[in-house]
Formats: sequence, C-alpha cells, structure tokens
Amino acid sequence: MEVHDLDPEEFRQRVHTFEFWFEAVQGYLNGKPYGHRPQPEAPLPYAERDGLVTVLCNYCIGETAALEGAGGLIQIAPNRHAKVFLATQTVDEGRHLEVLTGRLRELGVEDPEAEIARRGSRSLQEFHRRLLELVRGRDWIAALFAQNVVLECMEFAVFALHAKRADPRTCEVLSGIVKDERRHMGFGENELGRRLRDAPYARERLRAVRQELDALVLGSFEETMDAIGTPRADRTELGSHYLAAVARLGFA
Ligand SMILES: [Fe+2]
Ligand SMILES: [Fe+2]
Repeated sequence: MEVHDLDPEEFRQRVHTFEFWFEAVQGYLNGKPYGHRPQPEAPLPYAERDGLVTVLCNYCIGETAALEGAGGLIQIAPNRHAKVFLATQTVDEGRHLEVLTGRLRELGVEDPEAEIARRGSRSLQEFHRRLLELVRGRDWIAALFAQNVVLECMEFAVFALHAKRADPRTCEVLSGIVKDERRHMGFGENELGRRLRDAPYARERLRAVRQELDALVLGSFEETMDAIGTPRADRTELGSHYLAAVARLGFA
C-alpha cells in the first residue's frame, strides 16, 4: 500500500499502529540480519571501498540523528497516535543504524565509532545538533518538520539515488531503509498538513526552519561529495533530488 495516497484520517487509524508497522517491515527484515541476504561478495577496489566507507559513515550520522530525534519527539508529541507511530519509527531508525554499521564492519572497518567521528561531515553534525535543540526546546512543529520532512527527504533522496549505483549488498540494505523512510515522510506530511490547515501562520515558522536546515543539508552533500571525489556533473542531481522530495510533500 502507498501511504502517501491514504486519506488523512485513514492514515491516522491505520499507519499509527504496530500492526501496520509489523506488516510493513516483516517482508524485508526476515532472513536479513545485516539488512541483506547472505550473498557472497568479492572485495571492492580500494578507491571504491574507501569512498563507500565515507558515505556510510555519514549515513550513520544521519541515522543517529533520526534515532535520537524520533525518540525525543515521543516526549513532545501532542497525542497518543503520534507517540505510537514515533515508537515504531524509533525502532526503524535503530535498525537503520545497526545495518549501516554492520555494512561498515563487512567492509573491514574495525571501529565504526572512531571512523564515523573521523569521516563525518561538519554540516551533518551541525544538523544533528540543531535537530536535538529543536526537540529539547519542545518546539513540536519545527522539530517534526526538521526530522520527518527535512532529514527524511534528505535520506530518501540520497539512499534512493545511491541504491541505483551501489554494489548488490549495499543496494539491498539501502532499498530496505528507503521503504521505511517513505513511511516516516508520510507521517510528517500527514501531521504537519493537519497542523497547517488549523494554523496557517505556522507555515512562516517552517519556512524559517527550512531555510536554516536546507543550507546544512546541501552543505553536507557538498562535503561528502568532495570527500569521495564526485564529478561536478553528478553533483546537482543529489541536491535537486532532495528539493524535489520536499516539494512533493507540499513544503516547497
Ligand atoms: Fe532512517
Ligand atoms: Fe526515517
């Protein structure tokens, strides 16, 4: 089922349940302890492996932000429907972090924590800090927007694009994650859509948050692409993929 096509009230009744979550995830979790089937893998060429490690380290920062953000949002969510959904999302984000660090280990990274600290983009770390600040400030709409629109759209855009070009194991890991991110984006779209209908002035606030965070998202793309030596011609695709994902949710 396509969550983005559901009527908002139906979305609330169906998607904000553990039953829905379980149905959604079991198909691609079963038999995949590290997010992919146990298919054999030839060692990757040095430069390809090194670039992939940098990219995965940055994904781990994004997923750590999402894990802490979703967990923190439970405390400030204004109703129980939203708290239950965020509990399912928190589990998803923990799983994403687990499979991505698992992938780093498969690539020979012995200490993922140290590697993530060494290779992480400054802009992404700043995004992480800022998201948690919004959560701690109990600013529900701004924090939810930062988490379930900006961060989710960033991850969705990056993972979907990367999956198309990745080696088979990474591709399978990313394709599983993308399915969850779509559900998380659907939640943000649904919750914020209702809020904006009731309080249209909130749109101004979201515009300001977006302006600040977009700069960090686009900055983190640049830093990561610099680190892995992405050619100029391929760079704009990532930024426009992200901006299109935000626009599709109605937050252009
Ligand atoms: Fe995630
Ligand atoms: Fe997510």
